[in-house]
Amino acid sequence: MSEFRIGVLGRGTVGGAFVTLLERHASRIERITGLRPVLAGVLTRRTGPPFEELLERSELIVELIGGIEPARAWALEAMRAGRHVVTANKQLLSQYGEELFATARDHGVQLRFEGAVAGVVPVIRVLQESLAGARIDRVHGIVNGTTNFILSEMARAGLSYEAALVEAQRLGYAEADPADDVDGRDAAAKMAILARLAFDTPVHLDQVRYEGIEQIAPDDLEYARELGLGLKLIGTAERIDGRLSVRVHPAFLYPGHPLASISGPFNAVTVESPEITEITMSGPGAGGPQTATAVLGDVVSAMIPPASAPKATEPLELVDDVVSSFYLHLEVADEPGVLATVAQLLATHGVSVKSVVQKGLADQARLVMVVHPVLESRFYGALAEIAALAALRSPPRSIRVLEEEFS
Ligand SMILES: NC(=O)c1ccc[n+]([C@@H]2O[C@H](COP(=O)([O-])OP(=O)(O)OC[C@H]3O[C@@H](n4cnc5c(N)ncnc54)[C@H](OP(=O)(O)O)[C@@H]3O)[C@@H](O)[C@H]2O)c1
Repeated sequence: MSEFRIGVLGRGTVGGAFVTLLERHASRIERITGLRPVLAGVLTRRTGPPFEELLERSELIVELIGGIEPARAWALEAMRAGRHVVTANKQLLSQYGEELFATARDHGVQLRFEGAVAGVVPVIRVLQESLAGARIDRVHGIVNGTTNFILSEMARAGLSYEAALVEAQRLGYAEADPADDVDGRDAAAKMAILARLAFDTPVHLDQVRYEGIEQIAPDDLEYARELGLGLKLIGTAERIDGRLSVRVHPAFLYPGHPLASISGPFNAVTVESPEITEITMSGPGAGGPQTATAVLGDVVSAMIPPASAPKATEPLELVDDVVSSFYLHLEVADEPGVLATVAQLLATHGVSVKSVVQKGLADQARLVMVVHPVLESRFYGALAEIAALAALRSPPRSIRVLEEEFS
């Protein structure tokens, strides 16, 4: 039986789990592929052979060191030397994807990256292969488990953002430095990758607008519950009149939305297409064994005859101003006419109110409302004028609401 030699870069959370899985499933993989997978070596900062030596003795390189360099240089060098590359590195793919895809194409090798988005949930494969025959209009995702866990805990236990983050760190769902997760950048990188595959157009991380969850207050979640809404950090990539919008921001969902029930550290991605209506895939979005399972699946696919490398065939312009519905939270002086003034300002900008909750609090009143879908620039125009009202007791807070036909 021929051998298939695999060189691994990195032996951390995912790399360590990958090596264990590879050894555990070697016989099964041999039955599936007709090739015996063999570990050619594992390289870390402190241990293992030099990269060139590992490359020489490998047919496929698994990159699990993360970051940009040396991951980028080594992935390129491996493909130029005719080796397949499997990676889970979303930062690398969202910033240097075009260079990497072109190199894979030019050298007739495979570049696979299922583990880079939504862990073991097979979204990449579904977009690249299963839905290759569908025209995709929109991809919505909860693609960051850390923020989904934090928002779930804030809603479930009434915790503050800070307390929910500490809990996420205690349970290992958040890094000691959670910046990339909570500010939306990690989700933005994943949405850039999904948009690239869904729309066959190059999308760079810098083209994705993103907002995080640091500003979310527990009472936003409380009021939202009264309005029948739940909060998620949502990534969206969608076609709008022949152009493309890719964005990440917190959004309220009505209970019938397919992503509304995804809680804790789980991820989910919904793909919408006229041919298929919609598909929602969900499961563990991170973790060593989970991500390593996706990486090993990619290795097995690379051992079987090739899938084609993705091509950019339909360049799409990116849109900035999109239509959204909003939740708006105002603390105002409890005086006659304030609600009417707010309603008037909204109406002037073409923003109409869908539902309102009003509460009196000593000499203040709290107005919490949901407005109908409107161009974001119009809503923010109204918000700027509302923010300047003398009756306002604190800066207005707003969060998008995903309006769907689901009920
Ligand atoms: N952790 C997850 O749940 C998860 C989920 C999805 C995707 N990913 C992605 O998977 C990749 C790996 O993540 P991880 O969590 O396994 O990282 P990790 O635990 O920090 O491990 C990184 C490994 O890479 C090695 N390494 C780092 N820089 C190196 C360099 N310059 N030269 C040689 N070795 C180097 C480290 O070696 P030393 O030990 O010697 O420092 C360590 O063995 C990242 O791209 C990450 O975004 C992770």
